[in-house]
Amino acid sequence: MPSIKAAIIGFGTVGEGVYKIVNEKRQQLKQHTGYSIEIASILVRDVNTKRAVAPSVLVTDSIDDILNDPEIDIIFEAIVDEEPAYTYLSQAIEKGIHIITANKKMFAKHGPALLKHAEFRDVQVGFEATTAGGIPIIRTIENLLAGDRVHRVQGILNGTSNFILTAMRDEGVTFEEALHHAQKKGFAEADPTDDISGSDAFYKLMVVSSLAFDEQPEWEEVSVVGIDHIQTDDVLEASKAELRYRHVAEIRIDDEGKLSGKVGPVLLDAEHPFYAIDGVDNAIIVETDYLGKLTLIGPGAGMYPTGSAMVADLVHIIRQLKPVPVLS
Ligand code: HSE
Repeated sequence: MPSIKAAIIGFGTVGEGVYKIVNEKRQQLKQHTGYSIEIASILVRDVNTKRAVAPSVLVTDSIDDILNDPEIDIIFEAIVDEEPAYTYLSQAIEKGIHIITANKKMFAKHGPALLKHAEFRDVQVGFEATTAGGIPIIRTIENLLAGDRVHRVQGILNGTSNFILTAMRDEGVTFEEALHHAQKKGFAEADPTDDISGSDAFYKLMVVSSLAFDEQPEWEEVSVVGIDHIQTDDVLEASKAELRYRHVAEIRIDDEGKLSGKVGPVLLDAEHPFYAIDGVDNAIIVETDYLGKLTLIGPGAGMYPTGSAMVADLVHIIRQLKPVPVLS
């Protein structure tokens, strides 16, 4: 059976999730793709940290070991900041390596350039895991755009914020305790500033904007507010009035084609579909000409949900590479 060799850049929660899923679902992936998938190398910051990976996997702190390996077909990128992720992925594309990223901060800014570069080099790009964890929002919007038009997307896009708001309401814990819990569970980023300040949801919203509308609003024109000023008493007070805080990101296009977006906490009543979205779940409402409103709900962060989105990209990319049958 032919094989596909992949590398993982970044071995935090998400990178490890990809590694585990590829190994746990080895047989299923073979059946679905016709290829044996092998994780050949992993890029880490400290090679001396103990990790549960097979001895055959090269664990390296040098990107050159991966980019100069002519056998690497695909790179999974799961690091946090814009750089060095953008540079590494640009270099990978240049070498004809397909890329799959979970890096929303990088992709919000550089996604359009990477996609253009990849098209030029005839390379595939997967970015399902950048937005809403395990919810297949990217593929869903891509499918909708084939014959429909999206005019508004509204979402709970940060799992950590939703987890904190839920824990403050249900368990009466403080903001700090809830955040600590989210960090321990691997939902929050190592530095959770982007999660609680609204930036993480903003980056995801910009990824959605590029996909749904082929452009982004001016970043300075989007109001971005986090949940870091909301305290347990606020949440409990709202709850008494049968209202719930939700952190919602929204982007819409008006009839003149002007985009507008906003990100911030809102108080919702039980009528709203986001009222019942608890814990680390995300939810997204996509409004289109033909569907009206489509609502997707699912886990928005975590090792397996986000890892599974990257593996779904892998299967999709491999299928794209196969010759399309000609219908006569
Ligand atoms: N820290 C992110 C969140 C992880 O809480 O939503 C998934 O992107």
